[in-house]
Amino acid sequence: MNLAIMASGRGSNAEAILHAVEQGTLTARVTALICDRGDAGALDVAYKHNVTSYVVPREQFASRQDQQERMLELLRAANTEFIALAGFNAILRPSILSEYPNRILNIHPSLLPAFGGGIAPEPQAEALRAGVKISGCTVHLVTAIVDAGPIVAQAAVPVMAKDTVESLSARILKQEHRIYPIALQWFATNHVTINHGNVSVDSGVSQALWPNNVR
Ligand code: GAR
Repeated sequence: MNLAIMASGRGSNAEAILHAVEQGTLTARVTALICDRGDAGALDVAYKHNVTSYVVPREQFASRQDQQERMLELLRAANTEFIALAGFNAILRPSILSEYPNRILNIHPSLLPAFGGGIAPEPQAEALRAGVKISGCTVHLVTAIVDAGPIVAQAAVPVMAKDTVESLSARILKQEHRIYPIALQWFATNHVTINHGNVSVDSGVSQALWPNNVR
């Protein structure tokens, strides 16, 4: 599977994906990392892992549409078959979405459908404000409705009484790094079925998400 990563920030999820590729637990080739900011840490991550990166900043284009047309050209040129959004802070427009139907995943730092829509650390802050006792992260397919595409994988973490946005975010992030490569591998190995917006994963491989004692 030729995988492109799209990122805007620090790049720790991009790094987790690249690490899994290097370990052989994710059987994909990362053919491009596309970034909409020139100062993103994700660019250093790409460099460190020998992945070609492209910076496509909003200010160099007349419109968001033009900016994403350029991203689409780059995705095509990299023979992209699948896309992982990894802290990518823009909403994908129909041109990219329609070229990769059910082939774009995103990771979000809450248990969707709770606390969707925002960009980290907003979802974690909302979870704290709401007083939930469990939060976590969600890997989902990207559709035109933000953070509402079919859910592929989730991991839960406890919310502790003394948590700050930072401490909760760090606990969630560990789970993001664990489940995102696993979910991508399900697609790379064709173990995913999508039926009326519902994702099912072949039972043998879906167990990978859970510790032994939760079966
Ligand atoms: C992650 O926590 C990711 O879940 C979140 O941004 C962070 C990116 O960190 N994504 C969103 O909020 C999407 N709405 P990273 O750059 O270190 O991977």
